[in-house]
Amino acid sequence: MPRLKRFLSEVQDGVVPQTIWLHGDVGNTQEAKKEILSYATGVEDVFQTPKPERLLQRILEIGSNLGDLILDSFAGSGTTGAVAHKMGRRWIMVELGEHCHTHIIPRLKKVIDGEDPGGITKAVNWKGGGGFRYYRLAPSLLEKDKWGNWVINKTYNAAMLAEALCKLEGFTYAPSDAIYWQHGYSTEQDFIYVTTANLTHDQLQQLADEVGPDRSLLVLCTAFRARADRYPNLTVKKIPRAVLARCEWGHDDYSLRVENLPHAPPPKGQMDLFDEVEQG
Ligand SMILES: C[S@@+](CC[C@H](N)C(=O)[O-])C[C@H]1O[C@@H](n2cnc3c(N)ncnc32)[C@H](O)[C@@H]1O
Repeated sequence: MPRLKRFLSEVQDGVVPQTIWLHGDVGNTQEAKKEILSYATGVEDVFQTPKPERLLQRILEIGSNLGDLILDSFAGSGTTGAVAHKMGRRWIMVELGEHCHTHIIPRLKKVIDGEDPGGITKAVNWKGGGGFRYYRLAPSLLEKDKWGNWVINKTYNAAMLAEALCKLEGFTYAPSDAIYWQHGYSTEQDFIYVTTANLTHDQLQQLADEVGPDRSLLVLCTAFRARADRYPNLTVKKIPRAVLARCEWGHDDYSLRVENLPHAPPPKGQMDLFDEVEQG
């Protein structure tokens, strides 16, 4: 429906616009393009209709307070984060395009270093400060095989798998160089072991003996051939099932039920979790 016709029909329906934001107040696309050129020199202009900082400023003034968390899950050139930062809000941006590296990161670095004189900098007296963390999302941990069964994504190597499952289970990822079954810990006495092996009773009994009565171990494996409740110091779970229990797959929001995400230190050494457990 053409815009004017839709506008008139909305007025007839009683949906009356309360305000008009003129470009003199909130800027326009040309102004936004100039803002982009000030921090992304030498890169191709990938945005047809970027938003000016003044527009986002007005929106954040209306919809948020100092210290609030602002989410833009389609970050584009990063205007939302840049404006939120200058206005003393915290922010999360998500972007899958390469302009995350050519635009968003250089832009936010300039904002933080006080080297972005454009946009709303003067209006809010922004001088620089703060920081941000950058995360690259891992591929999905599980995928379906040709029979529709959930299996571990083949792009996951052993260290990635152990680290991901430590996070999901609330353990700190800290693989031990000396003890093959210690991939992480939740307390000084409680550990996690991740393996794609199909564990037999003998292997689980060997683990239980090594763990001993004063420690406990969560064992995440792809399968086991034993009664899981036979070992008082072990909790044995199957990996796809353990992961699926933490995710609301098949819903619209796909929220991940993770209460405790520890900070993962860099992996100390590559451990081959894809090997069967050696029998002593
Ligand atoms: C039109 S821009 C939005 C820009 C900005 N939020 C604004 O209002 O000016 C949309 C952005 O979303 C990104 N995008 C599209 N699908 C996405 C997805 N599934 N995850 C993350 N980013 C996505 C595109 O690469 C593009 O940069």
